[in-house]
Amino acid sequence: MLALLSEPIVTAISAHLGCDATPLRRLIGPPTRADAGDLALPCFQLAKAAKRNPAQLASDLMPVVEAALPGISVVAVGPFLNITFPPGLVAERLLGVLCNDPVAPLRCPDQQRTVCVDFSSPNIAKHLAFHHIRSTGIGNALAQCYEAAGWRVVRINFLGDWGTAFGRLMAGWQREGLSRADLEAAADPVAFFNDIYVRISRAGKDDPSVAEEAREWSRRCEADDPEALELWQIIRDASLAAAKEIYALLNIDFDDWRGEAHYRKHGAAVVGELESAGLLREDQGAKVVDLEEFGFKKPCLILRSDGGSLYATRDLAACEDRHQRYGFDRALYVVDLGQSLHFKEWFAVAARLGKPYAGELRHVGFGVIQMWNEEEQRWAKTATRNGVPMMLMDVLREAIDRARAVVDEKNPDLPEAEKAAVAEAVGLGAVLFNDLRNNRKGDIRFRFEDALNMQGDTGPYLQYAHARLCSIERRFAEAFGDRAAPDPALLDRDEEKAVLLAIARLQRALSDVVAHDDPSQLANALLALAAATSSWLTLGNRDRSARVLCEQRERAMARVALVAAVRAALGEGLRLLGIRAPERM
Ligand code: ARG
Repeated sequence: MLALLSEPIVTAISAHLGCDATPLRRLIGPPTRADAGDLALPCFQLAKAAKRNPAQLASDLMPVVEAALPGISVVAVGPFLNITFPPGLVAERLLGVLCNDPVAPLRCPDQQRTVCVDFSSPNIAKHLAFHHIRSTGIGNALAQCYEAAGWRVVRINFLGDWGTAFGRLMAGWQREGLSRADLEAAADPVAFFNDIYVRISRAGKDDPSVAEEAREWSRRCEADDPEALELWQIIRDASLAAAKEIYALLNIDFDDWRGEAHYRKHGAAVVGELESAGLLREDQGAKVVDLEEFGFKKPCLILRSDGGSLYATRDLAACEDRHQRYGFDRALYVVDLGQSLHFKEWFAVAARLGKPYAGELRHVGFGVIQMWNEEEQRWAKTATRNGVPMMLMDVLREAIDRARAVVDEKNPDLPEAEKAAVAEAVGLGAVLFNDLRNNRKGDIRFRFEDALNMQGDTGPYLQYAHARLCSIERRFAEAFGDRAAPDPALLDRDEEKAVLLAIARLQRALSDVVAHDDPSQLANALLALAAATSSWLTLGNRDRSARVLCEQRERAMARVALVAAVRAALGEGLRLLGIRAPERM
C-alpha cells in the first residue's frame, strides 16, 4: 500500500541513477523517528554502489524526488532523505483503493507456498491449563496472518495423546473398577480423570506395584492390546471433547488432528532410515543419534531401551508425514521456549538425514505467562482463584463475566443476545490481545483489570475504537442517507493523512508478522492506527467544523469514507488476531 506513494519516487531515482529499482523498494519506508517525514530513504547503500558520499547523494536526489510527485517536500538530513506528502495527495492515492477493497492493506498477493502451523497441541487427559492460551492464541494468529499474506495454511493440532500419563490413568481406572457408565455420570469428565490421576499417584507413593501396572498398561497400548486401546480411546475421546469446547469458544479449527498416538508406529520407519544412513548408535540399550558436529554435547534419543518410541522420534515421523501429505515450504512449531532443545535436536537429526525441508523448520518459541494472584498479592505461574487452580476455560469464562458486567452498565438497552455476544467477544479479546501485543519471546503477565482496561493498549480498547467508528457510520446514514463517491482532496488535514498512513503501514506489519513469526507486529500497528484515529476524531471536540458529521455534506462524505476505511482495517486486523469486533459495545 505504501508503494502507491513510494513507487513514483522509486522510479524517478532509479531512472536518475540508472540503478535497479528492487533494492530501492526495500530501502524506502516509514522513518524510525516520528518527526522525519512520512517516508525516509537512507542513502548509504545507494552511495556505496555509486561510489559517492551518502550526504552528497542525498542532497543531489532532493530535486529528483521533488519532481516525482506534485507538492511533496523533501529534505536531506545528513545521509537520509525525508519525504513529506501533502495530505490531499495521500488521500488521492489511497482513499479510492480503500473504498474499492477495504481489506487491501491486510492482504499480500498469492505466494504459492504452503505453511504447516503446529499449535495448541496440548497433552490431553488433562484440562487445558491457562498457559495453553499462548500456543493456541499465537498459533491461530500466525495461521490467519499467513493466510492473509497469501500462503496456503494447514493448521495442525499435534495432540499429546500417548505416553506415561495415560498408562497411569488406566492403572487407576482398573484398580477402582471404573466403567464407561461412571465416566458418563461425571459432570466434568476431565475432572473425573484428574481425580483418578491424583488418587493413583498418591497410592503410588508407597506402593511400587502402581508404577509397574502403569508401565504394563503403556506396554499393552504399544502392543495394540484391544482392551488397553479401548480404554485409551475412552479417555482420549472424552478429554478431546472438552478441549474442543475451548476451540469452539475461540472459533479456532484445525485441519489435522493427528497426534502422538497416530505416529507411534511411524517411529520404526524413522529408525530404519537412520539405521541405513549409519547415523544410529547404541547407548546403554537405547538408540541415539550423535549431534556433536552441530555443537550438541548430548546425543538425541530415538528409541528407548525397552523399544518404546520417544517424543523426538514421533516429531520426526510426523514431520515427514506432513511433508508428504502437504508438501509444505515452511513448518512452524508454536511451542514454549522450554522445549527449545527438543526442537534444535530433532531439527538437527532431520538435517543429518539430508531432509530437503530441514532448513524450513521453525520453532516459534514463546515465554511464560504469569497471572496476578489477588490473595497473595504476587505474580504466579499457576493461576488460582480462592486457592483453587484456574484452568484456561475458567479464565476465559471469568473474563467474559467481567466484560458482561461492563456491557450491562454501559449499554443496558442492548438486546440480551447481543449483550452476551459482545461480552464474549470482549472477554476473549482481552485475554488474547494481552498475549499478542507482546513480542512472543518475552514472558508476559495477565491481570483481568489490565487486560480489560478500555483505556489501555488492550483488545477491548481496539474493539471500542471499532464500535465507535461503526456508530459514526450509522449516524452518518441517519443524517445524510446513502454515501456517494468521496472527494479525496477534502481530506486535507495532517491528522487525516496520519490515519491514512497508519492504514497503509498495516501491510508492512503483516509481512513483518510472517517474516518474524510474531503477531505483535500487527497488534502494535493496530494500536498505532487506533491512536492516530483517536487524535483525528478528537479534533472535533474543539472545532465543530473538524467533525466527521460536519455541516458540509461533501466533506462529511470524504470523512466518513475514511472512517469506514479505518473501521474495516481494524475489524480485519482484529480478525487476523483471532479477535471479534462487535459493531456496538
Ligand atoms: N504436547 C506437547 C506439550 O504439551 C507439545 C507438542 C508441540 N508440538 C510438537 N510437534 N512437538 O508439551
